Amino acid sequence: MARIIAIANQKGGVGKTTTAISLSSSLAHFNRRVLLIDMDPQGNSSRGVGTDITLIAKSVYDVLTKDADINKIIRRTAMKNLDLLPANLKLASTESEMINRTNQPFFLLKNSLSNLKKEYDYMIIDCPPSLGLLNINALVASSSVLIPVQCEYFAMEAVAQILASISKIQSSYNPDLGIEGFLLTMYDPRTRLGTEITTQVRGLFKENTFLTQIPRNISLPEASARGIPVTLYRPTSSGSLAYLSLAKEVMDHEER
Ligand SMILES: Nc1ncnc2c1ncn2[C@@H]1O[C@H](COP(=O)(O)OP(=O)(O)OP(=O)(O)O)[C@@H](O)[C@H]1O
Ligand SMILES: [Mg+2]
Repeated sequence: MARIIAIANQKGGVGKTTTAISLSSSLAHFNRRVLLIDMDPQGNSSRGVGTDITLIAKSVYDVLTKDADINKIIRRTAMKNLDLLPANLKLASTESEMINRTNQPFFLLKNSLSNLKKEYDYMIIDCPPSLGLLNINALVASSSVLIPVQCEYFAMEAVAQILASISKIQSSYNPDLGIEGFLLTMYDPRTRLGTEITTQVRGLFKENTFLTQIPRNISLPEASARGIPVTLYRPTSSGSLAYLSLAKEVMDHEER
């Protein structure tokens, strides 16, 4: 059965999308069959794997609001083993439509994933920077959550909030939801703040913090801007090597 990992943190700009794209492409690199699910109306994950979101007729929006066949909306990417369920701006207006169409609006993504015909080893969900219905759908559908923590001010406040939402979801809709791990992102060892946040997170969540830290590396934004995962764009950059190492840690959890 596929492991479904939500990349979530309601704080904006902490590296969720970069992690979703680069972890997906790294797992695909190691021959895992991966579906990247874009749940953010900004569509940055879709763009990051080379999809022009202005040209796609249907997206995850149609899956969540109209019962469209998910199998017809999933697209291949240029990378072997990596498929995409794309998002576009339409997704910004889904919430009321989702609530109006069912009395179980939290389960819409989970239910549609159960109709998948193709088999995947991993589904990686890129969540939006909010705690709304889209995020709840992602957490309800997932087996675990990976929480990127940017080595920046107010990082710990954001962590406390996401942990509170995770425990709400666990107690009401998805008791099996686990923590895949905390991931330190945009780490710069030259800044005192970088080292401080790292020490705090590792102190509080020792077992649950990935050994891999993602360094600040210009190849990551460059790769996103070109719509090519960093593992293809600059395979030997520090950013690419870090995400490949993260993928190995995630695959080590397969035995759990
Ligand atoms: N390790 C890194 N090194 C350098 N730049 C990075 C790194 N990780 C992310 N970035 C850049 O920082 C910005 C924010 O990253 P990203 O889009 O991944 O965050 P996000 O959490 O998905 O944001 P949002 O909350 O808006 O969805 C982007 O421009 C991205 O290219
Ligand atoms: Mg994002």
